[in-house]
Amino acid sequence: MELPRDPYGDLVRSGPGAAAARRLGLPVPARLRRYAPGQELLTGPALVLRVGAAPLAADVAAWLAAAGARVLDDLDAAGGERLGAVVVDASAARRVPDLARLRELLAPAFRCTAHGGRVLVLGAVPAEAGVPGAGPDGEPGEGFGEGFGDVEGRSVQQALDGLVRTLGKEARGGTTVNLLRVAAGAGAALRSPLEFLLSARAAFVSGQPLLVGPAPAPPPARGRRVVVVTGAARGIGAAIAEVAARDGAHVVCADVAAAGEQLARVANRVRGSALPLDVTAEGAPRALAEHLRRRFGGADAVVHNAGVTRDRSFVNLDESAWDTVLGVNLAAPLRLTAELLRTDGALAPGARFVCLSSINGLAGAKGQANYAASKAGLVGLVQALAEPLARRGMAANAVAPGFIETPMTAAMPPLPREVGRRASSLQQGGLPVDVAEVVAWLASPGAAGVDGQVLRVDGQHLTGA
Ligand SMILES: NC(=O)c1ccc[n+]([C@@H]2O[C@H](COP(=O)([O-])OP(=O)(O)OC[C@H]3O[C@@H](n4cnc5c(N)ncnc54)[C@H](O)[C@@H]3O)[C@@H](O)[C@H]2O)c1
Repeated sequence: MELPRDPYGDLVRSGPGAAAARRLGLPVPARLRRYAPGQELLTGPALVLRVGAAPLAADVAAWLAAAGARVLDDLDAAGGERLGAVVVDASAARRVPDLARLRELLAPAFRCTAHGGRVLVLGAVPAEAGVPGAGPDGEPGEGFGEGFGDVEGRSVQQALDGLVRTLGKEARGGTTVNLLRVAAGAGAALRSPLEFLLSARAAFVSGQPLLVGPAPAPPPARGRRVVVVTGAARGIGAAIAEVAARDGAHVVCADVAAAGEQLARVANRVRGSALPLDVTAEGAPRALAEHLRRRFGGADAVVHNAGVTRDRSFVNLDESAWDTVLGVNLAAPLRLTAELLRTDGALAPGARFVCLSSINGLAGAKGQANYAASKAGLVGLVQALAEPLARRGMAANAVAPGFIETPMTAAMPPLPREVGRRASSLQQGGLPVDVAEVVAWLASPGAAGVDGQVLRVDGQHLTGA
């Protein structure tokens, strides 16, 4: 697919343009480091810092070393080399002075991150940190008395959120900053989220928390994974199909019959199969469930990507614009998911659902009452599914893209388009592949500890932050 260009970005990254932009104080978006086959996980050494007991740091250091990183526990050992990653284990932080210690350790390292570096803070889940005596020091927390729990512990863990969101905004050179909230008992389920967020695959994910919990027991291995992507004929759906296929899956590329030729091209390119399917059709849930059961013995992942917009101010939205958008974006994923769960053999053990939400669903967007309602509805869908699916060893998550360079955003009027592009910490639009990387990871067995979450892929867009 020919990608829409970012002429401003090209101009200010070049010699004279860059100098002028610096003089005028204009944004200079960094070139993001994206995944390429055979690439090293990091561009420089990984510094693993410990705040207090830091119960996760030893495993983290071992995993990073196994992934080929040079792991340091002291900034001086870098000898002036720029850091590929800084990982801070603050999961045991419960007291305000712990935050001072975090600042003391992290601030000098934060200055030394490489271009495209990664900063990852590991925290506890605030609600778990509020349970008295749950912290590594076993202290109940003071000052509030019986029945309050560890108010300070919970506050300190929540403080990490504000810190990370701020560092995301202050980071330069394509460096991203994220918070992994590690639930009690997550154990080895932390490894894949950690490596994913540190990798170039997460180039457009910054300034947000992600919760990882214990993973269900892995299902018995079967052959090649089968991933269904709706709306796969173009745009983000086609990119998801490509990344999932690159990662080894057979991709069932579904789209409306009218997208026939384009759909066939994508399916051929990814060596998958094409499935003409209007997700809103009466018989679509049954047809999909039967197809997956008969042809593949069940899908390992289902990506609800098909989506439409019909923008108008709320008072001018007619019934058709409302029904079309809610029908494709929300009612169809609800119906398809219900039927797949009801049909024996339509889903493989450990199946994972991923829904394409949007930052406009999190924040609201003028002229998009129908779209924002549908995309927020998908957040409700994955949250409602999380626990019941976890009991079956399955999971559902949502991805909320921000400004992505697609034909849809290329068609925007120039001024709002330019504002939309720059209004994020990374000061540029993302590419369809950035969303696809996150979706493909959430659809993979590695993300087994991630359930009921919404992961933004928006370069920390100012919208809904
Ligand atoms: N492009 C962005 O910046 C952006 C931002 C946030 C969220 N999203 C979401 O990501 C998803 C993909 O967006 P995109 O920009 O690639 O859109 P797109 O319009 O380029 O592609 C959407 C695809 O869905 C298909 N589709 C539409 N109705 C369908 C139906 N009834 N049944 C089956 N397929 C159907 C279309 O034929 C098309 O191939 C959408 O859910 C969108 O809301 C996109």
